[in-house]
Amino acid sequence: MKRYFIHTFGCQMNVNDSLRMSEALSKMSYVPTPEPENADLIILNTCSIREKAEDKMLSALGRYRAVKASRGAILGVGGCVAQQEKDKLLKKVPYLDFVFGPDNIAKLPEVITRVQEARERVVETAFVDSEEYVFPRADAETSRGKVTEFVTVMKGCDNVCSFCVVPHTRGREVSRAFPDVLVEVADLARVGLREVTLIGQNVNSYMGGISFAQLLLRTAEVPGIERVRFTTSHPHDLSDELIEAFRVQPKIAPHFHLPVQCGSDRILKMMRRDYTVEQYLVQLAKLRAARPGIAVTTDIIVGFPGETEEEFEMTMQLTEQVKYENQFSFVYSPRPKTGAALREKEWGLVPHEVKVARLERLQKLQRRISGEYTQSQVGLDVEVMVEGRSRYDATKRFGRTPENRTVNFDGDAPAGSFVTVHIERATPNQLQGKQVAVLQGPTVAPPPVELTVPLHVPAEA
Ligand code: 5AD
Ligand code: SF4
Repeated sequence: MKRYFIHTFGCQMNVNDSLRMSEALSKMSYVPTPEPENADLIILNTCSIREKAEDKMLSALGRYRAVKASRGAILGVGGCVAQQEKDKLLKKVPYLDFVFGPDNIAKLPEVITRVQEARERVVETAFVDSEEYVFPRADAETSRGKVTEFVTVMKGCDNVCSFCVVPHTRGREVSRAFPDVLVEVADLARVGLREVTLIGQNVNSYMGGISFAQLLLRTAEVPGIERVRFTTSHPHDLSDELIEAFRVQPKIAPHFHLPVQCGSDRILKMMRRDYTVEQYLVQLAKLRAARPGIAVTTDIIVGFPGETEEEFEMTMQLTEQVKYENQFSFVYSPRPKTGAALREKEWGLVPHEVKVARLERLQKLQRRISGEYTQSQVGLDVEVMVEGRSRYDATKRFGRTPENRTVNFDGDAPAGSFVTVHIERATPNQLQGKQVAVLQGPTVAPPPVELTVPLHVPAEA
């Protein structure tokens, strides 16, 4: 038996791709090892959304070089950096054995065999045409014991946001046929899953035979599934039909991640985002009317080329006005071949210290607002889907509210249950309390030993 180790960077798409790689490797009689030092095969599944992610992968690659030297491990790079750099990566990193893009995961066994037997260095980074693309189907058995899982509904992105490398690394949009999505969800529900998150770079433009709103509604009807989530959305595709789905189907969880990117119309235009702040706010108002109390989160970029102090203040004001539950905010990072990187000198680079200072101010504001939300829950009884043991304290349970707030609590309900938790304390990122009632038990008997893997493996960005 040979051992493999996969190091995942980046977004949920990458986490899911790593799972598909694991499935392919287990069919080749490879077994996973948690220690790269003991691996015969090391794969880095990489992200190139910001420069920092790329730097991290290069330093990790340096560390794994030693493993290769000491035990002859095979070393490969997949994911977005692989797609972006292609054969250049083999030239740059002489000890690398193979490079494969996100569309080529199905070819992994063949690539590894070529490396092992023919001692070739292999590059597989061709995009697969939309008509020919086959979404790798997840093996539900590998999810047994879990409560929540991600299901891919589309890949790629047809937008042209000027800061973003994703259209270059993930190619054109391809939607997965809706019956395939529903079969995967039903398989997951059969092994006890209670929640699914439908994922894609731009799920609102889903075209797999029915609209995305209909896909959510159909997913919510799969027996055993109690909560349906999705990510990520672009504001310009947020349809009235989707908003209506929130009104009529309570199983669509009351959380919407709606990246705004910034609070200035001039910068939005330079970002080629296709909406104004006003239009964004109108959409949000409709959403909040359809589902009062819905939690709204966002992504923001500060220090986009040409961003003035006043324009940054507009982002601060928008954050205050929308009162986001949470936000992921980043300093602008120029990416190869993107529209903004090509024009940033003309627009005017924002100095690094200014970008960082703006980011700190924004994040401080968001921490205050997030803290107000969590504090507002103290003293209330909330519904929690139990996911397992708390990561902070093994004596406590962990779960999430419908709004996706994390809760660590005293209780005994097994994973897959729905309970009422009385909230006693809060920090800006989590709630704490005690279980006061069990609303529903799990749909299948929980495994004798609870899974100890972190339930939402955060990949490194
Ligand atoms: N620089 C900084 N942040 C970026 N993002 C995407 N591209 C860049 C970039 N070049 C952010 C956006 C996006 C999130 C996933 O990452 O906010 O919504
Ligand atoms: Fe995911 Fe985008 Fe990073 Fe690729 S570049 S891993 S799609 S976040």
